[in-house]
Amino acid sequence: MSPRPSTLVCVLCQKIYPLDDDRIACDCSGLLEVRHDFLHIISGGFGHHLRHLFSGRRENPQGPADKSGIWRFRELVLPGLAETEMVTRGEGNTRIYRFERTDRYTGCHQTFYKHEGENPTGSFKDRGMTVAVSWAKKRGAKLVACASTGNTSASVASYAAAAGIPAVILVAEGKTAVGKISQSLAYGAKTVMIRGDFDAAMHLVLDSRRRLGLSVMNSVNAFRLEGQKTIIWEALEQLDWDPPDWIVVPGGNLGNTSAFGKALREAFELGMICKVPRLAVIQAAGADPFCTAYENNWAKLSPVKADTLATAIRIGEPVNYEKAVRAIKYTQGLVTRVSDQEIMDAKAVLDSDGVGAEPASCATVAGLKKLVAERNILPHERVLAILTGNLLKDSEATVGYHRQTLPGITAGRPNAEVVIDPTIEELEKVLVRP
Ligand code: F0G
Repeated sequence: MSPRPSTLVCVLCQKIYPLDDDRIACDCSGLLEVRHDFLHIISGGFGHHLRHLFSGRRENPQGPADKSGIWRFRELVLPGLAETEMVTRGEGNTRIYRFERTDRYTGCHQTFYKHEGENPTGSFKDRGMTVAVSWAKKRGAKLVACASTGNTSASVASYAAAAGIPAVILVAEGKTAVGKISQSLAYGAKTVMIRGDFDAAMHLVLDSRRRLGLSVMNSVNAFRLEGQKTIIWEALEQLDWDPPDWIVVPGGNLGNTSAFGKALREAFELGMICKVPRLAVIQAAGADPFCTAYENNWAKLSPVKADTLATAIRIGEPVNYEKAVRAIKYTQGLVTRVSDQEIMDAKAVLDSDGVGAEPASCATVAGLKKLVAERNILPHERVLAILTGNLLKDSEATVGYHRQTLPGITAGRPNAEVVIDPTIEELEKVLVRP
C-alpha cells in the first residue's frame, strides 16, 4: 500500500484538510496540526531503526539535508519535500552543555543545557523557519510575514532572503531588542514598528493576511512546529535515547511547548523512547496567562497586558494555547512563573559559566531553581533545560544589569566596566580593588 498523504487536522474537532490548504485554523476555529502517515512512511521497523537512520546521517552526512539538524529527521518532519526544495542554512546540531556554577545555583546536579542560541540566526526559531519557508516557497508564496518579539522576525528575514521571497515583519516599538531588529534590517525585510505590543501586532498580521496576501510565519503555522520538534529528538539522541525526567522550557506564544508535546508523543508512539519526560513550562510573572490557566485547572485562557524585561516572552495572548494544554496534560507536566528579578539573577549566574543566553532563556534557569526549591523537581533528577536564544541578542539587558541601570532590578552580581587613564598605576589600582 502506498502512504497516505500528510494532512492538516484540527486539534479540537479532528476535521481533516489537505496539507496545501492555506487556512490557519479550522472552521470551528481550532488550531491545525500536521499529521503524517508514519505507518507507511517508515519502512523496515520503528524505534531502533529510526534512531539508527537519524544518527547515521549525522555521522556520515550525504548532502545538505543530512547536515541540517532538522532535515536529518525529514521522514518525521515533512516527508513529501524534495531535497532541492529545502531552504536550509544547516540549522540545528546545537550543543548540550553542563554548567557547574549554574547547577550549584539551581540545586539540580544533572542538568543538560541544550543551547538553541547556536542556530544560524541565534535562536531556536530557525528550526521551524526552515520548514515553514521551504513549504511557503514550494507553494509559491509572494510575501512572508510575522509578528514578533524579535527572534521570529530575525529568522523570517534570514530564511526569506535565502529563499528569495520578500518579507515583512511587525514588532513592538520600543520593546524589541536592538540586536534582533538589526538582523531584520540587515537581511532586507520590510521592518514595521507597531505603536502597540506583540499581541496587537499578531492580531494585525492575522486580520490582514487575506487582504494583503501574507503567508504567516508565526507558530500558528503548523509547519513551524514540525521543525521545532527536532529540538527534542536531537537532544534525546545526544542523551543516547535515555530520556530525562524533566524538560524545562520558557513559554511565550507556546509554540515550543506544543512542538515538544508532539515530538514526545511521536517519539514514544514510534518506539524511539520508552518513557515520556515531564514538561515544565516557565513564564515571566508579567506575562503569565498560561500559568494562571494551569492554576485554574485550564478553566479558560484570560489574556493579560504583558510586561517583562524578558521581551522575547512579553506575550499576553498566546496563540498556541490549546496545543500547549494538550502537551502539559500528555506529559503530566506543570507550569510556573518567575519574576524579572529571578530571571536576571539566574542570567548573571548562567552567563558567568562562560556561554550565557538572552533573558527569556534564563527563565528556564530561574524556573528550575524554583521547582527544585519547591521539591517539584528533585536534586538528583535528570533535567534537559532549553536555552532558547543567544546572549548577544539582547545586550541592552546584560549591560543594563551589570551597570545597575535596569529599572526595578537589584543586581546581585554586578560586573560593570571601569574606565581608567592609560597608566600602570591606574591599572594596578583596578586589579587590587576587590
Ligand atoms: N525564548 C526566546 C528567546 C524567544 O524568542 C521566544 C519566543 C520564546 C522563548 C518563547 O517561545 O513562543 O514558542 O513559547 N519568541 C517569539 C518571537 C514569540 O516572536 O520571536 P514560544
